[in-house]
Amino acid sequence: MFQINCLNPISKVGLDRLTADYKVTDNMNDAEGVLVRSASMHEMDLPENLLAVARAGAGVNNIPLDKCAKKGIVVFNTPGANANGVKELVIAGMLLAARDVVGGIEWVKASKDNADIAKAAEKEKKKFAGTEVMGKKLGVIGLGAIGVKVANTAVSLGMEVYGYDPYVSVNAAWNLSRSVKHVMNVEEIYADCDYITIHVPLLDSTKGMINKEAISKMKDGVVLLNFARDLLANEADVLEALQSGKVARYVSDFPNPTTAGQPGCIVIPHLGASTEESEDNCAKMAVEEMMDYLENGNIRNS
Ligand code: MLT
Repeated sequence: MFQINCLNPISKVGLDRLTADYKVTDNMNDAEGVLVRSASMHEMDLPENLLAVARAGAGVNNIPLDKCAKKGIVVFNTPGANANGVKELVIAGMLLAARDVVGGIEWVKASKDNADIAKAAEKEKKKFAGTEVMGKKLGVIGLGAIGVKVANTAVSLGMEVYGYDPYVSVNAAWNLSRSVKHVMNVEEIYADCDYITIHVPLLDSTKGMINKEAISKMKDGVVLLNFARDLLANEADVLEALQSGKVARYVSDFPNPTTAGQPGCIVIPHLGASTEESEDNCAKMAVEEMMDYLENGNIRNS
């Protein structure tokens, strides 16, 4: 019976599937398989008998890929399994940037003891007036499972959508709405879009890609969204651009001391995939990939 260590709690459906046939162990040293969500494995000593690591999520930047490759440890992820959960939050983030719902909620909280709150609200609400996204231009950088879903949903909101990805998969191209204009150069997105959302992995080549230079090519008053990874945006450059008014709003799923709580920033604590459905899908897919490899030697999503 294979021994599996779960570095992070995984959803019950995944755990039930695992415990039916495998031993779930607390002892990392005995593990032949590791299931991980967000815990970083970079500083860990990898167990002698470890054969596979499965990440219940898309990004694998918390796993030491080189170290695993050298030891012949196969690393799996679960692309697409949480894409709908992340997409829904990206769309919510974009709408929160367009409509000052956050400011309105804060005002209601602060005014909760005012017996005449309804009357006061009628006076105050002008302050929270926003804009609509219909007819605005959205640039989606990165057309993987999440980027494609965001682009297609934005089309149905009446937005003019531009997509950029130098490595679009056949699957993504197949699923992308024909209404999304596929541009060959990211600069076209920078130059034209009112909203820009990034959906790329964190790599040496993408780290800090939203920086002073990139921002200088964008439209004044652009709204930036980062639901992909911390460090894709240079937070100091984003803050400076918010302060100058070049960037109107920064919506991020990655709290960072530079931008968290700053005016114009809507920051949430990495909640993109935190839905029951996404957690179940990721756990199930990760467990199945791991079992298929350990039992049959099949490798998928590695
Ligand atoms: C992912 O990499 O799949 C998402 O960022 C969600 C997560 O890390 O849990």
